[in-house]
Amino acid sequence: MAGKTNGSHCRNSAINPMKQVGILGGGQLAMMLAQAAKKLGLTTIVFAPDADCPAAAYTDKFIQAEYENIAAMKSFAGDCDVITFEFENLPVNNLFALQETGQCIFPDPKVLESLQDRLTEKRFLQANSIPLAPFARIDKASDFSKAIEATGLPCVLKTRHFGYDGKGQSWISDAMQTAKAFDLIHHHPAVLEAAIAFELEVSVIGARNSQGEFVAFPVTENLHEDGILRRSHIPANCSSTIAKKAITITHDIASYLNYVGVLAVEFFVQRDGQLLVNEIAPRVHNSGHWTKGGANPDQFEMHLRAITGMDLLEPNCVAEITMVNLIGKDMADAQKWNDDGWDITDYGKGKMSKGRKMGHVVKIGS
Ligand SMILES: Nc1ncnc2c1ncn2[C@@H]1O[C@H](COP(=O)(O)OP(=O)(O)OP(=O)(O)O)[C@@H](O)[C@H]1O
Ligand SMILES: [Mg+2]
Repeated sequence: MAGKTNGSHCRNSAINPMKQVGILGGGQLAMMLAQAAKKLGLTTIVFAPDADCPAAAYTDKFIQAEYENIAAMKSFAGDCDVITFEFENLPVNNLFALQETGQCIFPDPKVLESLQDRLTEKRFLQANSIPLAPFARIDKASDFSKAIEATGLPCVLKTRHFGYDGKGQSWISDAMQTAKAFDLIHHHPAVLEAAIAFELEVSVIGARNSQGEFVAFPVTENLHEDGILRRSHIPANCSSTIAKKAITITHDIASYLNYVGVLAVEFFVQRDGQLLVNEIAPRVHNSGHWTKGGANPDQFEMHLRAITGMDLLEPNCVAEITMVNLIGKDMADAQKWNDDGWDITDYGKGKMSKGRKMGHVVKIGS
């Protein structure tokens, strides 16, 4: 489990208002964080390897360097009151090194370390009696037969690290397919997970600050295609009992982690109403994009409020809204969505490629 930290090594405190926010990563999440920061009167410094990234045009300052470049990261940190990140695949040792110098980093790098590895993430859930799909650890080909006893068939093999948008996953419906599935994920350390015949998928976007205040946005229903989020909708088509339970689980996860910032918890809802946690994202999340246009504050402002020590506000949300991701060549139809009354956010990514999230659209109402 991630250690219990509360940013105690942080050289800043509530007495010093945090104004300068460093963001590791320059994608669309960093772009929308930088936009929200402006509204709050905060300035941002984005650190990313690619100068031609969505956030570059919106941040006050941009640093182009590799995440492994500790010298560049230390110099970046020197200008930041607090540092956050928009994605999980960061070298945590560099973040620990910054933290040792008294740098505030939220969410805590210890939480990131635990959640960037599917195995330690699942063990954290298990240790706290939070329901999740049966799983087993896979390090070598001979681990499969015992693992399948735990998961049954069908099941899904997932790399422990670096997975996103369904990447690094391989489905197995027959025990004969394990060797091929392992080859497909290049024999990386992995977990095998039971396939869940879920009724629907939902997520909760929650926020917690260092005083332990917690707020959540309404439960979102999510539809995935080929492992990638396609569509999110509120209200989720589940009972208020299930919705309340999903929020309670998210609250509990945030407090067990002594979490600071916005987090997303993805759930499978089974036919009998049981909730299983699929995964936890320690950051703002695609299934919360509807909040930009559908909630005040939105998830981006909420995250900044949490990490800079501001009060969290109970979000004021529309009753019904849909978000659709524009993936790959979908972006070519942007005008059509616009004509149909959808509000478009274009991530400004030059290169369109299959499976790449290029933008999203939202529409209020049914
Ligand atoms: N055990 C499972 N049973 C049924 N469906 C699954 C299972 N694991 C994954 N899926 C399907 O694949 C989708 C993507 O899986 P997962 O959330 O593990 O991937 P990811 O690569 O971490 O994606 P992201 O980071 O974009 O959420 C899930 O939302 C779900 O639709
Ligand atoms: Mg997921």
